[in-house]
Amino acid sequence: MRILVTGGTGFTGKALVRKLLNDGHHVVAMDNKEGLKTQELREWGAEVVIGSVTDRELVRKCMKGVEVVHHLAAAFRELNVPNSYYEEVNVGGTRNVLEAAWENKVSKFIYCSTCGVHGNVDNPPGDETAPVKPADYYQRTKYEAEPVVQEYFRKGMKTVILRPAAIYGPGDPERFFMIFKRVASGRFLMFGNGKTLYHPLYIDNLVDAFLLAMQPGKGDGQAYLIADEEYVQIEDLVRGAARALNVPVWIPHLPIWPVIVVGHVVEKFCKPFRITPPIFPRRVDWYRQNRAFNIGKAKRELGYKPLVGLDEGLRRTAEWYRREGYLRA
Ligand SMILES: NC(=O)c1ccc[n+]([C@@H]2O[C@H](COP(=O)([O-])OP(=O)(O)OC[C@H]3O[C@@H](n4cnc5c(N)ncnc54)[C@H](OP(=O)(O)O)[C@@H]3O)[C@@H](O)[C@H]2O)c1
Repeated sequence: MRILVTGGTGFTGKALVRKLLNDGHHVVAMDNKEGLKTQELREWGAEVVIGSVTDRELVRKCMKGVEVVHHLAAAFRELNVPNSYYEEVNVGGTRNVLEAAWENKVSKFIYCSTCGVHGNVDNPPGDETAPVKPADYYQRTKYEAEPVVQEYFRKGMKTVILRPAAIYGPGDPERFFMIFKRVASGRFLMFGNGKTLYHPLYIDNLVDAFLLAMQPGKGDGQAYLIADEEYVQIEDLVRGAARALNVPVWIPHLPIWPVIVVGHVVEKFCKPFRITPPIFPRRVDWYRQNRAFNIGKAKRELGYKPLVGLDEGLRRTAEWYRREGYLRA
């Protein structure tokens, strides 16, 4: 099939593109910037289109002959941009991709949302019926695109929404790398009691979910939480990373409230000057936002089965960070 993957050079996009190419599909990867990763994708055999999902004409061109769309492109890691940028890319961009997909009569449209649409889960584990209460502009804009996807489903397009939990694995440039880096230093400052629940999602498990969602007749018009089998307390996650690296780690605890205040103040100060803040509320939320999910619906309806568990996932991830020189061997 001819498949469009928006955000194809991102952490998740790259893993999905590789799998689709290995399975013999023709992949068009759309991405914002030219770089080493786009070159790598071309070497694998993907067709790469550079440009923004906010560019309607370009999105239309990319869509020619496409049968399936995986829409992953998102403003996500950008910090030194106004909040309106998140709206433009995550909501406006999604609408553009949907519109072009509709015109082109694609057979399946998979929208990559986030478990973050549920914000802090009050009664963990939450399922898809847990209250939607995004906690920041990223989560809010990811959620605002969901009704737009449903609008096209009602028009007649086959759509599936996936809400992934915290994705990690080889290739993760940021969140888990920060955890591993701090663990490797031998000391991990824990703000709060460390008992916050966190639901990891190994990258290969998520790629499997994308492939399942592509199948005809599966999940149409539905939203699914996608995560690993088990969730953990964040302190256990840190200890798991230490085991994977085979290093001892000391975890001193500090109060969280001062960091919350500092996060808000620093972000407010940095934004107008387009400075990337060293600490910001979304990062602080890691210590206090419960995210634990029941993935029963995806198992029952999509046949989803997370094959890689946490210890194995962390081991593979640690090995990758060392092999690629992110961490000392
Ligand atoms: N990572 C997680 O834990 C997590 C959890 C739940 C959901 N998600 C969702 O999963 C998806 C993939 O996440 P990820 O961690 O793989 O993110 P990522 O590495 O930041 O990838 C996002 C990709 O989207 C591209 N992109 C951004 N703005 C774009 C635009 N205007 N037009 C075209 N491409 C654009 C980026 O390209 P450039 O780098 O060239 O700008 C990047 O390649 C996202 O939709 C995210 O919201 C992620």
